[in-house]
Amino acid sequence: MKVIVTGADGQLGRELARLAEGSECEFVFATHAELDVNSPRSVASFLDAHPADVIINCAAYTAVDRAESDATAALKVNVEGVANLAREAAERDITLVHISTDYVFDGSARVPYTEADATSPQSVYGETKRQGEREMQSAGCRGIIIRTSWLYSAEGHNFVRSIAAKAQTESELRVVADQWGTPTWAADLAVAILHILPQLRGRDLRGEVFHYADEGETSWWEFADTIVGMMRSECMVLPITTAERPTAARRPEYSVLDKTKIKAWFGVDVPDWEVSLERCLRQMNVYKD
Ligand SMILES: NC(=O)c1ccc[n+]([C@@H]2O[C@H](COP(=O)([O-])OP(=O)(O)OC[C@H]3O[C@@H](n4cnc5c(N)ncnc54)[C@H](OP(=O)(O)O)[C@@H]3O)[C@@H](O)[C@H]2O)c1
Repeated sequence: MKVIVTGADGQLGRELARLAEGSECEFVFATHAELDVNSPRSVASFLDAHPADVIINCAAYTAVDRAESDATAALKVNVEGVANLAREAAERDITLVHISTDYVFDGSARVPYTEADATSPQSVYGETKRQGEREMQSAGCRGIIIRTSWLYSAEGHNFVRSIAAKAQTESELRVVADQWGTPTWAADLAVAILHILPQLRGRDLRGEVFHYADEGETSWWEFADTIVGMMRSECMVLPITTAERPTAARRPEYSVLDKTKIKAWFGVDVPDWEVSLERCLRQMNVYKD
């Protein structure tokens, strides 16, 4: 099976590259410079040069706050980019695995969101990701959409790296305690995707949505406190409210994803978020026994 990964320099793309070494599939990793999903010509010529069975779309505009004042740029990647990939995938009978987000939900629930729950994004980023899902579904190509949440890894811009860096230089951090969700190690999502890939062959799925996040739920404050605790840092993590730390984009208060469907359909194993956090911090060489 030949697999193209777009946005290969991002968190998820890099984790897929790490795991691909032991895989039976033949991978082509395309960075933004090599394959610009915004450009129909770039997509078509890349696919001409690299005929593939599957595209894993890790390309995205992920700057949630910046998107509020830069909606055109977010729209180009998260909506038009997905449409470009989905159209080519439909024409060439390529299976598209597209990644979406918990931010398509408004956060008013208090039990984990299932794939059947209504979406109602509260931010430009969330809205563009929802529209991207719809572009893929209306193109009618083979493939699935996997929504995930609070993604982090040992590389790139993410909450874990930012808290770990501050824990080494600051004595006190203030982190919002009234937004609930589940941190997801990008390596776990990559494992899940590679586990699912061979199973897509025999099924005619077209834009079916699945949820994948690590197991459990927490707040950003508890997440930060756990990072600092695992590092044995003296830094204090103080809980604050969202109102005390206004951001350009509104985030869901609660965005825990229900993983029942992905486990039942594909037999995906889901590690506990704290177990995976420890593994990531060890990879970063900041975990202290
Ligand atoms: N990060 C999270 O907390 C989170 C949470 C839920 C869902 N997700 C979703 O999970 C997926 C993977 O996220 P991630 O954290 O791995 O993202 P990321 O680290 O921000 O990586 C995104 C990659 O996409 C590339 N890209 C941007 N515009 C592109 C274009 N026009 N053509 C091709 N590549 C382009 C970026 O390259 P440049 O940097 O060079 O532009 C970057 O390498 C995304 O769909 C995201 O929406 C993320």
